Amino acid sequence: MAILNFVFLGPPGAGKGTQAEIIAKKHGLVKISTGDILREAVKNGTELGKLADGYMKRGELVPDEIMLGLIEEQLANIDKGFILDGFPRTVKQAEGLDELLQKKQLPLKAVILLDVPDEEIVKRLSARRVCPNCGAVYNLLYNPPKNDEICDVCGTKLVQRKDDNPETIKRRLDVYHKQTAPLIDYYRAKELLVKIDGTGKPEAITEAIEEVIFK
Ligand code: AP5
Repeated sequence: MAILNFVFLGPPGAGKGTQAEIIAKKHGLVKISTGDILREAVKNGTELGKLADGYMKRGELVPDEIMLGLIEEQLANIDKGFILDGFPRTVKQAEGLDELLQKKQLPLKAVILLDVPDEEIVKRLSARRVCPNCGAVYNLLYNPPKNDEICDVCGTKLVQRKDDNPETIKRRLDVYHKQTAPLIDYYRAKELLVKIDGTGKPEAITEAIEEVIFK
């Protein structure tokens, strides 16, 4: 059977979530977004949510042990190809993931790096709006809803994510460059890294990713 397990890597706002959603739906893969799982946990006030909330508000990473436990749980009964969106984010997480995937005999096909410069990230994240009800993601500059800040899908008033303010965006970018960017060399050394230009139209980026999937 073809191996269709991927990691989507890139700075905050690079479009990992947008592309993972499209590709997973189109190709019958499971999207595992650690950011979405953590936000849901915060919303529901679970133990995980209480633990993660402060880190997320500050734009810092939730500790590796917690994240590795969460991913192990997510992959426990997986029976389809998957996209990991936002995981791993540190070398320790990547090493833990390698061990887990080896144990389960689930090799990665590729690590897709969405490359977007910092200035564009700040612009995109400041204009992102999300639906608190159905989770749809919009952008006031690039992909606005039809009616002013109202979700096209379910009609709910859109909100801004708590970590999409200028100060936290800057912190998240710093954290990315210091703690997550070393994964680029980590996966390059394993010959898994595929760098894709994350600027330009989302459809063109989807096509570039699909070329990797079917290679
Ligand atoms: P997480 O939710 O993963 O946030 P992130 O990595 O900062 O990524 P984003 O969701 O902000 O961006 P994205 O790349 O998915 O872009 P999107 O498609 O939305 O994590 C949040 C927090 O949780 C972390 O800070 C941390 O605290 C914690 N966490 C999560 N995982 C963790 C881990 N593994 N370890 C430790 N802590 C963890 O697009 C962004 C915007 O741009 C949208 O408005 C979209 O419409 C627009 N857009 C998308 N594509 C394009 C395009 N081609 N052109 C123009 N606009 C576009």
